[in-house]
Amino acid sequence: MDKFYVTTAIDYPSSKPHLGHAYEKTIADVMARWNRLKGKDVFFLTGTDEHGLKIQRAAEKEGKTPKEFVDLQVKNFKKLCEVWNISYDRFIRTTDKDHELICQQIFQKVYDKGDIYLGTYEGLYCTDCERFYLEKDLVEGKCPVHNKELDVVKEKTYYFKMSKYQNQLLNYFENNPEFIYPISKRQEIINRVKEGLLDLSVSRTSFSWGIPLPNDKNHVIYVWFDALLNYVSGVSYGSDKFGKYWPADVHNIGKDILWFHSVIWPCMLFAADIKPPKKICVHGFITTSTGAKMSKSLGNVIDPIQLVERYGCDSVRYFLLREIPFGEDGRFSEEALITRHNNELANELGNLVYRTLSLLEKKNNSLIPDSSSDLELFKKLDINSIEQHMDSYEFHLALSEIFSFISEVNKYINEKQPWKQQGHELNKTLYTLSDSIRVVAILLSPFIPNAVNSIKQQFGFEELSFDKCKPNLTKKNTKITKGNVLFEKILLQ
Ligand code: MSP
Repeated sequence: MDKFYVTTAIDYPSSKPHLGHAYEKTIADVMARWNRLKGKDVFFLTGTDEHGLKIQRAAEKEGKTPKEFVDLQVKNFKKLCEVWNISYDRFIRTTDKDHELICQQIFQKVYDKGDIYLGTYEGLYCTDCERFYLEKDLVEGKCPVHNKELDVVKEKTYYFKMSKYQNQLLNYFENNPEFIYPISKRQEIINRVKEGLLDLSVSRTSFSWGIPLPNDKNHVIYVWFDALLNYVSGVSYGSDKFGKYWPADVHNIGKDILWFHSVIWPCMLFAADIKPPKKICVHGFITTSTGAKMSKSLGNVIDPIQLVERYGCDSVRYFLLREIPFGEDGRFSEEALITRHNNELANELGNLVYRTLSLLEKKNNSLIPDSSSDLELFKKLDINSIEQHMDSYEFHLALSEIFSFISEVNKYINEKQPWKQQGHELNKTLYTLSDSIRVVAILLSPFIPNAVNSIKQQFGFEELSFDKCKPNLTKKNTKITKGNVLFEKILLQ
C-alpha cells in the first residue's frame, strides 16, 4: 500500500491560535483525507513548538513556569484541531520525552561526525522570530518581520557546519525541481543559497528553557534545530514506523519559514544521513478584508474557534479553500464567507440533497430505486481533471469543478421535472440524482467532512472511496432517512 506522510508547521503556543494556524491545518487535513480516500496509508502530524526564549518570556509574564504555561496553552491548540475537524494521527509537543531524546540523539550524531563545533556568537537576535539577523537584513535597524529592536547577544555557542552542505543542497534543488511548491518561490531560495551558506548557531546558554545538549549541559539546543526534528521524531526516528513513513511527502508551511524548511532542514538531514523530505508546500498568508496583516497589537485577529461556533466547521473550511488559490495570500471577510455559505453550500449543495431526499420520500417510499444512471449527466463531471487539481494542490479549482457539476445536477432536476414523472422514467431520474450525490459526497469529503457524513447517513451510502467515483455504484433499494437541511441560510446583517 502506498504511504503518504503529511505535516504542518508546529505552532508556537505563546498566545492563542489564530486563523493562519487553522488555515494551514485545514490544508494539511484536506491532503490527508484526500490521500486516505485514494486508499493510501496516511500519517498526519501536527503539534506545538514549546521551547525557546519567546515561550520562556511569555510564561514569566504570566507568573508561570514554562511547562505550566505550555500545558495550559496547548489545550487551545488541541481544541482548535477538534472543532476544525483536523484528522491528525499524532499531535506532537516538543516537550514530549521521545522527541527530546531523539533531538539529543541526532545532535550527538552530527557532533560525532564533526559537523558541530564550539565557537562564540556575537549578534542580533529577534525573540519573536527565534533567529539571529545580520546588520544587512535589518530594516531601519529593526527586525524586518516584527519591526522591533533586537537583543544584542554575545555568548559561547555550538555551530552547525551548514556551509559544508551548500553544494549538496544546490544539487538537490537541481535534481528535484518540484521540491518547493509553488515553483515561484524556488528561485529566490536558490539565489540566496548561491550567495553562500554560513554556519548556524545551534545552541544557547543565556536561558534554560530548551533541550540540554547531550555533550554539554550548559547549553540548550537552538529552538529551530529542536523544532524541525519533530518531523522525524513524530514518526519515531529509527523505528519500523520511521522506515515506513520517511521521507515525508509534504511539509505544509507558511511563506515566512521557507528558509528554515528548504535550506536549514535539508542540511541538517544531510549531516544526520537522513533523506530530505519530498516536498515543501508553501501557502500564503491570511489577511484582513482590507489586506492588512492580522496581528494582536492591531487587534484585528480572528479567533478561529469562535468562527466555527458562529458558522460551522464545514463552512469555514470550505470558504478558505475555495476562496484562496494555494500559495497566494487571501483576504478573510465574514461577508464573503456568508455569501459562499448561502450560495454554494446552502443553495446549490444543500438544496440538491434536500430536494432529492424529499422526492425519494414522496415518490418512491423512501427507497433508492432499482434503475441505472443517465450517463449523459455524468459526462458533465470531469473526474480526471478534479483528481489532477487535487494532486497538484489546486483545491479552489477542484471545488469549482465539483460545484459546477452540482449546478448541472440541479438543472437536471428542473429539466426532468420528476414530480411529473412516473414508472421507469421517474426511477431513472431518482437513481441518477442519488448516484450523482454519492459521487459528489466522495469528492467533497476531504473539504466538508461533517456534511458528507450527514449525506452518507441520510442516503445510506456505503463506504466512500475515490475508486467508487463512477456511475451506477449506488446500492439499489437502499432506505433513505431524510434528516435536517445540511446548511441553514445565514442572514447578512
Ligand atoms: N514554530 C514555528 C514553526 C516551526 S516548524 C518546525 C512557527 N510557529 S508559528 O506559530 O509562528 O507559525 C505556525 C505556522 O502558521 C507557520 O507555517 C506560519 O507561516 C503560519 N502562519 C502564521 N501566520 C499566518 C497567517 N496570517 N496566515 C497563514 N499562515 C500563517 O513559525
